[in-house]
Amino acid sequence: MSVFDEQPPIINVSAFSHWLIKNYSFFKSKNIKLSRLNSERDVNLLIKGVGKKQYVVKISNPKESLAQLEYQDLLINHLRLNIKLRKIYPKILHKKILFYIDRNKRRCAVRVLTYIDGNMYAKSKNSDHTEKSLGKLLALQSNQLKSFIKNQAIRKFEWDPSDIRWTKKFINLFKGVNKNIIIKTINEHEKFVFKNIKNLKHAVTHGDPNDYNIVVKKEKIIGFIDFGDSIYAPVINDLAISLSYALMGTKNFYKSLKNIVGTYNEFYKLSDQDIYSLLGLIKSRLVITLVMAAKQRKKYPDNKYLSISEKNAWDLIYRLHKVDPYFFIAVIRDICNLEPISNFSKKLQLFKSQQFGNLFDFELNNVNKKIVNFNKSSFLLKTNPSNKKLDNLVGKFLKKDIGIGLYKEKRKVYKSNHYISSLNPFKRRDVHLGIDIFVEENTPIKSPLNGKVSILHNNNFKYDYGPTVILEHKIKNHKFFTLYGHLSKKCLKKLKVGQMIKKGQWIGEIGNYKVNGNWSPHLHFQIMTSLMNEVDNFPGVGEEYLLHIWEQISPDPNIILQIPESFFTNKVKKEKILLKRKKNIARNLSISYSEPLHMLEAKGQFFYDEQGRKYLDCVNNISHVGHSNKLVHDALVSQNLKLNTNTRYLYNIINEYSDRLLKTFPKQLNKIFFVCTGSEANDLALRIAKNYTKAQNVLVMDNAYHGHTNSLIDLSPYKFNSKGGEGKKDYVHVLRMPDEIRGKWTKQNNKWINKYIDEAKEIINKNFNKKNSLSGFFFESILGCGGQIELPKGYLKNIVKLVRQKNALCIADEVQTGFGRVGSNFWAFEEHEIVPDIVTLGKPMGNGHPIAAVVTTKKIADTFNNGMEYFNSFGGNPVSCAVGNAVLDVMEKDNLQKNSKIVGDHFLKNLRNIQKKFPNYISKISGKGLFIGIDLIINGNFLLPNPKLATKLINSLRLKGILLSTDGPYNNVIKIKPPLVFNKDNVNFVCSEIYKFLINEDKK
Ligand SMILES: Cc1ncc(COP(=O)(O)O)c(C=O)c1O
Repeated sequence: MSVFDEQPPIINVSAFSHWLIKNYSFFKSKNIKLSRLNSERDVNLLIKGVGKKQYVVKISNPKESLAQLEYQDLLINHLRLNIKLRKIYPKILHKKILFYIDRNKRRCAVRVLTYIDGNMYAKSKNSDHTEKSLGKLLALQSNQLKSFIKNQAIRKFEWDPSDIRWTKKFINLFKGVNKNIIIKTINEHEKFVFKNIKNLKHAVTHGDPNDYNIVVKKEKIIGFIDFGDSIYAPVINDLAISLSYALMGTKNFYKSLKNIVGTYNEFYKLSDQDIYSLLGLIKSRLVITLVMAAKQRKKYPDNKYLSISEKNAWDLIYRLHKVDPYFFIAVIRDICNLEPISNFSKKLQLFKSQQFGNLFDFELNNVNKKIVNFNKSSFLLKTNPSNKKLDNLVGKFLKKDIGIGLYKEKRKVYKSNHYISSLNPFKRRDVHLGIDIFVEENTPIKSPLNGKVSILHNNNFKYDYGPTVILEHKIKNHKFFTLYGHLSKKCLKKLKVGQMIKKGQWIGEIGNYKVNGNWSPHLHFQIMTSLMNEVDNFPGVGEEYLLHIWEQISPDPNIILQIPESFFTNKVKKEKILLKRKKNIARNLSISYSEPLHMLEAKGQFFYDEQGRKYLDCVNNISHVGHSNKLVHDALVSQNLKLNTNTRYLYNIINEYSDRLLKTFPKQLNKIFFVCTGSEANDLALRIAKNYTKAQNVLVMDNAYHGHTNSLIDLSPYKFNSKGGEGKKDYVHVLRMPDEIRGKWTKQNNKWINKYIDEAKEIINKNFNKKNSLSGFFFESILGCGGQIELPKGYLKNIVKLVRQKNALCIADEVQTGFGRVGSNFWAFEEHEIVPDIVTLGKPMGNGHPIAAVVTTKKIADTFNNGMEYFNSFGGNPVSCAVGNAVLDVMEKDNLQKNSKIVGDHFLKNLRNIQKKFPNYISKISGKGLFIGIDLIINGNFLLPNPKLATKLINSLRLKGILLSTDGPYNNVIKIKPPLVFNKDNVNFVCSEIYKFLINEDKK
């Protein structure tokens, strides 16, 4: 027989009072009054009348062992050793435990303690403050108990929630759903507690800090009493037991958990394992309460009071079963300042490093997209439409575009009780955890990664997912999951749970309104780092107040979709920008394409417009090492935060950069003037040449463009000969382009190059003499605006010779062709075995930052030093030099000159193959490295340039996501000069689209 079965002591209070006065000296000559206190198995009496203090006398159950009671006294004395805790434990007044013989002649041990006067936790109105105080004192008690160990504590005890296997025998005391809850809890106990028990830190515990053993005064805990259940057990038993009572009195679990567990953790750090078992222990303790009560009820079927006290325990266990145990773990981890999902940051990093496949047969970034809002200001929900109407509204809004429903959008559409937060009934789950992609019904869906079918289920309720697939992806022993909701029923037939799925494999098709939970056809796509305890569904919305936790359970699906961030954040629409631009900006700034592109961001070789559409950039040679290069950006920022000034002060970075830059030139070219633009560079070069030669005349190539300044418009036939141009000035002399197909002399002519050289010789000799001398000859080695025409071998060498015979300077304009673009050499002039007197640099030099330069010989630079200072406010400032340096760093690090050669050769080869197939349309593929031209003609006739076809081609390829431009005197040349990070895949894509375009043309 145990203390639970033995009747409590039976006493006569008055007789006992006499006994007390007789045996304890401090009650002598006092008029003490005894009154009964609650106790299940003992008799406890409150003693008043001894001064202001009150005492309690505990007459123990006759079956209680003396050793156990002595143990409790030792325990209390140990706890009172801690100054912070002393006050909350009763003081032991007796020196020795005495025995009282009750009316049934049984020996009952008697102990006398001070009485802690306050309200029981169960009976008091508890605030945040009370809960925090409870958490703190429980933790301090746990700490103090670490250093206490006695054999008596090591025992088996039915109220110990760390082992409830014994309750299995009693499950038949329950029926229906109650029985199911008990069974479920016992099973969860096995998984979350019993199997983890070895990992839980054990120590002596209080064993029963329930709401009737905790004393409260003024919202503070002032006492822990009753040590009769003290047991060696998992340390967190006490926290779990307290919670199994404290949570009964609260609606907002989250707040109470944060108060109690959060504060507990501040003073006693919970381990991962403690947190893993906490909910299991709370529920286990409730099962014990319920089983004990059921047993009592069976014994005393008429006692209605018993079922009333059970009600709170049932309510709590039901509510706790609505909380996913893994979600609870994540919440408690967060409360304890741990990552809600353990190792989340590492896992996310790993996940992000994967190469994901497309979800659809098309690439999501190659189509126009629109955001479909379901938030409170959504115009789609304005009239509170039925789902059927909403389906129509969405369809009308999207037309042919693809709709994107937002991750983390707080939505107005989740209204049923199903969406009430399990941890706080005053809050709802209404923040979207996936991305919705509105596409046509029956659109096939493909897996973005290798994986396995983990869940395949028809969540066949209105507003649910309908047919749903969840895939498991294992990456280096970490599991990730992806969810595909609102599918058609086809996947349910064609897939099997456990089936392995390859990246790119079909996993289902978009369902229609009837089967997909009554939504507009779309895919709900979600990533999960844990499946939690789900078996056939998964929450697609979470609570806003717990969003930081949900973000780790379901990170942004855009990790896989890779829609550019700017698509989601852009607030200003194209039409508005265009209108304002027309208002503010001068009209002769042209805009590409008849339907202008509103670009929001660019990275590497790609642009992204306001519809989240990706464009492969084949024309922006300024973004030489790729758009938005991080290294270049960081160099700019860090130098800008340090020092930016002009060249009148000393700073080292200008030397560092010029050293590196000059190393790329032949030795003679060893002096630099820094400027800000290509035009400035050419203008300065012209000044230097005029100063050096004291001459005025300038020689240029036909169709050349050298810049926009007054002086350079004069040197640019591309400008002065076209619309708005004033024609050629007398001091400017133009050499014919040695165009091998459309020039005066072509490849067909014998020694055709010599004919151009001879003509140049004639012009030079005829026009320039001592009186009317020549200052310089400006040239590009590949004529950009001339239509990407490479100057033929030997041509430049001869012209340079002729120019030098007239004591004039040769000025190589490398603004477009420089910095490794031509692949085989760093500078395009090097292809021609010449060393110019002056080289001008620009565009790619700063990857978009305005830095340019003039490089020349010492002799020429010295001559220019004629007394007039050369000062340039911004040219060569430290920030620009840092940027220039970083561009060279990236070029070296990523071997971009070599890349230009390899990828350029691949491009030329592929284009020449296309040319062979379409000689009717293409006369010539010209250029070097990644500076290429495609010359388009009519009917295979070299002499009939085809600008119409060129415009059509660039517009058509724009629709495919490729940006190109046209150039040349007839605008019939497709110009290709992409950032040097361009790769062979990019080339193949462009070539296949050109090929398809030409095939289509052929059909017409
Ligand atoms: C060959 C050439 N030189 C000079 C310039 C002028 O450079 P910027 O626009 O930086 O003044 C350009 C610009 O397109 C160019 O292509």
